[in-house]
Amino acid sequence: MTAKSLTRRSLLQGSTAAAAIPALGAAQALPVRHKEGASMTPVGLTVNGREAHLQLDPRTTLLDALREHLHLTGTKKGCDHGQCGACTVIVEGRRINSCLSLAVMHEGDHITTIEGLGTPERLHPMQRAFISHDGYQCGYCTPGQICSAVAVLEEIEAGIPSHATDDLDRVAFSDREVRERMSGNICRCAAYPNIIAAIRDVSGHAPAEQKA
Ligand code: FES
Ligand code: FES
Repeated sequence: MTAKSLTRRSLLQGSTAAAAIPALGAAQALPVRHKEGASMTPVGLTVNGREAHLQLDPRTTLLDALREHLHLTGTKKGCDHGQCGACTVIVEGRRINSCLSLAVMHEGDHITTIEGLGTPERLHPMQRAFISHDGYQCGYCTPGQICSAVAVLEEIEAGIPSHATDDLDRVAFSDREVRERMSGNICRCAAYPNIIAAIRDVSGHAPAEQKA
């Protein structure tokens, strides 16, 4: 065997070994990805008044638990990064982005989704107002907008200030307050004026132009 052939063989062996390393790595990675079942965690939630007992990968977001495990697909996944508000649900009376929260963090919590606010036969006043004011076009952001809007009126009623509040002792309804508080809910169809009109309608406040 010549030094030349040895070198060539060494090279070939080296190349084969190098090619095998990523293949081996991938083969080893697969079982890791599929070992999820071994680490499932029991999670108990009360969703729209009904108890749910789930076995979840502890990395499951609340959004995925609702959509993929409880099949409550009214709550939408927009960005999955806390930037659009499409996934807004109400947890223990406070609105949150469910894509930013792990389901295991909500053991025992009461959660309201768009399906729990009203039904087609018995709409929540906010749902009715969004329809009568055309507060949507494609509708993708709408469940999050409506859940947020319901919580916004409760926040104002409870005297919780926002960045737009001038007098911290007197938190009052205004379009400016609502715009600020709804700023985490993005609507790519830009139905914003009609969304504000719907929220104002439910709040019982007359449009600004009628007050003049
Ligand atoms: Fe949660 Fe966009 S999907 S904020
Ligand atoms: Fe289309 Fe809001 S209605 S994104």
